[in-house]
Amino acid sequence: MQLSKLVSNLPPYHFAGVQKKLNERKAAGVDVISLSTGDPDLPAPAQVVERLCSAMQDPENHRYPEYRGMRALHEAIAAWFERRFGVQLTPERDILPLIGSKEGLAYAAMAVLNAGDVALIPDPYYPVYITGSTNVGAEPYMLPLLEQDNYLPDLESIPPHILKKARLLWLNYPNNPTAGYADRAFFEHVVEFARRHNIVIVHDMAYAEVYFDDFRPMSILEVEGANEVAVELHSLSKTYNMAGFRIGMLVGNHELVDAIGRLKSNIDTGIFRPIQYAAIEALNLPASWIEQRNVIYRRRRDLLLEGCNAIGMRAGISRAGLYIWAAIPQGFTSREFTDWLFEQTGVLVAPGSNFGPRGEGYVRIAMTSPDERIEAALERMKAVVAK
Ligand SMILES: Cc1ncc(COP(=O)(O)O)c(C=O)c1O
Repeated sequence: MQLSKLVSNLPPYHFAGVQKKLNERKAAGVDVISLSTGDPDLPAPAQVVERLCSAMQDPENHRYPEYRGMRALHEAIAAWFERRFGVQLTPERDILPLIGSKEGLAYAAMAVLNAGDVALIPDPYYPVYITGSTNVGAEPYMLPLLEQDNYLPDLESIPPHILKKARLLWLNYPNNPTAGYADRAFFEHVVEFARRHNIVIVHDMAYAEVYFDDFRPMSILEVEGANEVAVELHSLSKTYNMAGFRIGMLVGNHELVDAIGRLKSNIDTGIFRPIQYAAIEALNLPASWIEQRNVIYRRRRDLLLEGCNAIGMRAGISRAGLYIWAAIPQGFTSREFTDWLFEQTGVLVAPGSNFGPRGEGYVRIAMTSPDERIEAALERMKAVVAK
């Protein structure tokens, strides 16, 4: 069959292949420990599951949902946003519920970019920034995220001829995969930069609510004037351990929110209402639910940090997000190391190069397994990785 250029050029989604690899080794009797994906192993809150089940009982909820989400969900999102970030959003104008934030990334690219435009993409990156941009014919311009710059891009290094064609800047803090984070000074600079060059910022904040110690990630919308140039994506996947529910939201600049709503309503028909009710229940949970859940992740983070650094896999402290970004031993590419480690130990981590050329030399290790599995993985790694 003759397929479109768009799908012919589209690479397979990397993490779709990981599952196959895991299943093959499991079928061969290997006790696999997967620390490769950011898929929370902890359960969604009990109240959320109960609300989902009760909403399922009402036949009214079996009908087509609202294209742009229920008013009650908009109100719950606005109230959560104000409590968490001190930013007021207008329901239905500044908010668009999504079937997970991933689809919002692809839609944002479609809504902003034309063929021949430049998309500014931090490297390493979440893969959809690239495919979303190239699917609509835009050219990626990579912005290295380097350890010595605290994984923040150097916007002032972008040459003028690139800036002239640049229409969209992707950002993601807390960052996947580097565990980098952004402070107010950075966001203020980015907003000023975007206004100066007429560039749209899409800030992907999927890890907003996984944070440690006294650190609290901020929203770019807290910066004055940000809502003129920026939208932000949030997700209940990592925030409330609801990855399988598929629910997230786009917030911010209302023109872009509206445009994406128009695009989306021509492609899907909204979010199953019981899932919307479940999301409202989650968003209304007290902040203490998040704090207690984050204590579990913090313990895992500390185990991984200590274990990796002890075997010479240097890793900086993750202040937020679900990952440790660790340097690999000399003599391997990150893919070779990952394959070798899996072969030797049954421990699967993600090669840094999956996230772009600047990820070479690192692996990403997810905190999504219980302490005892992390301890077992570290024991196995210690046995094969020379210091
Ligand atoms: C940086 C980043 N953005 C977006 C997503 C998508 O999340 P979801 O579609 O589950 O909301 C992920 C998922 O891993 C992610 O790591």
